[in-house]
Amino acid sequence: MADLDFFSDADFENYKKLIYKESGIVFTMGNRSILEGRLRERLRQNKAPSVGEYYKTIIANSGELTAFIDSITTNLTSFFRNLPHFTALEKYIIPEISAVRSEKADKTLRVWSAGCSTGEEAYTIAMLLSEKLPPPWTFDIVASDISLKCLMTGKEGFYAADRIVGIPDTYLAKYFEKHEGGYKVKDSLKSKIRFDYHNLINLSPWRNFDVVFCRNVLIYFDEVMQTQVINHFWNNMLNKSFLFIGHSESLFGLNTKFDFVKTQWTTLYKKWVS
Ligand SMILES: C[S@@+](CC[C@H](N)C(=O)[O-])C[C@H]1O[C@@H](n2cnc3c(N)ncnc32)[C@H](O)[C@@H]1O
Repeated sequence: MADLDFFSDADFENYKKLIYKESGIVFTMGNRSILEGRLRERLRQNKAPSVGEYYKTIIANSGELTAFIDSITTNLTSFFRNLPHFTALEKYIIPEISAVRSEKADKTLRVWSAGCSTGEEAYTIAMLLSEKLPPPWTFDIVASDISLKCLMTGKEGFYAADRIVGIPDTYLAKYFEKHEGGYKVKDSLKSKIRFDYHNLINLSPWRNFDVVFCRNVLIYFDEVMQTQVINHFWNNMLNKSFLFIGHSESLFGLNTKFDFVKTQWTTLYKKWVS
């Protein structure tokens, strides 16, 4: 039940609009209580007397606005989440891109983990490409998120023991060091990933990606924002490149130029222009 004394309908409308403008994330009556819970925590930390006063604070203070937006994100992720995507990366995308670029000197595969949360997706891609990309190919990964807290975890590369489920034993032994309470990613793998802040509703300066992973992010946006984000990706990708979205997400009905691809492992999208 919403606590209307703490968070009135008018307050909810103000916060809803601000969150949408700043991040594209949509709050509805269905998830209003999540926002209320996160606000209680921010008010406590800032010793703010009411949601109205806290609203004035975030409007005036961009650092606190960033921390507030961070606090309302949902960061659920895991290593090797939705395995068929990684199988398709290995068995479908690597051969396709190798063929397309067979005559070209550039043998670096560029991948973007957009909405990377705490980094598990980017490290999964890094392990897989380290194992499966045939020489002389190398790779670069950019991992971005709107949550600075998540990016710090990703950069540090330390994961508690219960977070490393899903990583094959051979990969764990090769790419992680055991530390008290968990595992730390080895520097050799970390050096393949650049973690950086990026708000997906804005244009990004990054270009020439072969593969973009933007999984389980679009669900937080409405169709207008989904279309905007997807069309931004188009500009960031090479003419022959691939896009993964979450397995419960779809571009169906959105006005985008991507083609749907059905492989024997999973579905994905491609930008295929000459
Ligand atoms: C559920 S996680 C998905 C993590 C990972 N891609 C996966 O599938 O496991 C969604 C992530 O999207 C990020 N996110 C939400 N809105 C964003 C925005 N406007 N710009 C960048 N990242 C955003 C959140 O901070 C969160 O870490």
